[in-house]
Amino acid sequence: MMRNVVAIDGPAGSGKSTVSRIAAERLGFTYLDTGAMYRALTLRAIKSGISLEDEKRVEQVVASANLEFENGFVLLDGTDVTKEIRSNQVTRHVPTVAAYPSVRAVMLVKQRLLADNSAGIVMEGRDIGTVVFPDARWKFYLDAKPEVRAKRRQKELELQGKEREFGAVLEDILKRDKEDSERQTAPLRRASDAILIDTSELSINETVEKIITEIESKKPYAVSW
Ligand code: CDP
Repeated sequence: MMRNVVAIDGPAGSGKSTVSRIAAERLGFTYLDTGAMYRALTLRAIKSGISLEDEKRVEQVVASANLEFENGFVLLDGTDVTKEIRSNQVTRHVPTVAAYPSVRAVMLVKQRLLADNSAGIVMEGRDIGTVVFPDARWKFYLDAKPEVRAKRRQKELELQGKEREFGAVLEDILKRDKEDSERQTAPLRRASDAILIDTSELSINETVEKIITEIESKKPYAVSW
């Protein structure tokens, strides 16, 4: 079935989250940050005290997690974890949890269900256009030079009161790019039919405009929004 899914993939700092949120608002679509899902699961695994190297245990922790999204807040088992999932510790460990096929299988079901329950959805992540919705009507892959992405990330951290050296932020980003792109299951990569947008020299608004223009030009006949 061709759903009203806008798939937006790309590496950290490519502008995905901000752009996806605004695009969803403009379209009147639901917005889903799948990275926040993997982050919340990682937080749950860390808190439960198990070894993150133990896939079976991680899978158990993940399968029983209750994830909810409400007005931009992420709830894990009923508790607001919106801020906590952005901690350095979680960021560092997400790729380990996200690499497990059993974890991704659980997330895939949840993500498809969320799309089924909405008239339209903008879903951002690493594997949305390749694995979760290979038949999505609209697919975008956002990217930018590593230095630009690191600069953006450094600014974001600064706004959260976390000062970090540029070199360290860049190193973290490159390490995560490598982990996400080299894993066996659902690696980060551009779907062959995804439109590539290099946001290195683009503002948020310019990027949103490009996406909306493309969506409008490929609007299905039966849909009205
Ligand atoms: O915020 P940032 O762009 O740095 O990352 P994120 O979108 O919150 O994703 C955090 C991590 O979750 C990624 O580095 C991946 O390891 C994992 N992830 C994934 O494997 N698949 C997705 N669809 C989304 C995120």
